[in-house]
Amino acid sequence: MIYPIVAYGSPILKREAEEITEGTALDELIKNMFDTMDNANGVGLAAPQINQGLSLFVIDSNLMLDEEDEEVGIRRVFINPIILDEYGDDYSFEEGCLSIPEIRAEITRPDTLTIEYYDENWNLKEEEFSGMTARVIQHEYDHLEGILFVDYLKGLKKRLVKSKLVDVSKGKISTDYRMIYPLK
Ligand code: NI
Repeated sequence: MIYPIVAYGSPILKREAEEITEGTALDELIKNMFDTMDNANGVGLAAPQINQGLSLFVIDSNLMLDEEDEEVGIRRVFINPIILDEYGDDYSFEEGCLSIPEIRAEITRPDTLTIEYYDENWNLKEEEFSGMTARVIQHEYDHLEGILFVDYLKGLKKRLVKSKLVDVSKGKISTDYRMIYPLK
């Protein structure tokens, strides 16, 4: 099943996601989230983006890499994740978001992180990721804390996207996936 994706301005995108009770059956939700992400050609999708305030996200960082890259991407679900540490060099990369179509912006984040999370079988994992995979994880993890990439913009850049963000909330945009607009 493909869920509609909630657009910028929806209250759930500003809320902190709730921890999921260990052992909860999530197979169907996870499958549907992967289907929804793939249908929108996304590299990541967090539960709040499908109007569910739960602490989980799916990613597929393969789409951000090609054969020339040394890095190998991953396709995975992260349940109740906690980023334990972020380190390495800060670097800037242009991010976008399925909830904020037609807007992209350079965001600076550290290159590497360690994260604790449960996998789809409720096994607790602790792993280190860097490069594009870390970048996608950081973006999706922010969604679980109610943070969007545009929240990092300041000054002129913030003013420049302001009216475009209103257009997104009103649905004055076109996407090839279904969305729910808070001001429409
Ligand atoms: Ni996003």
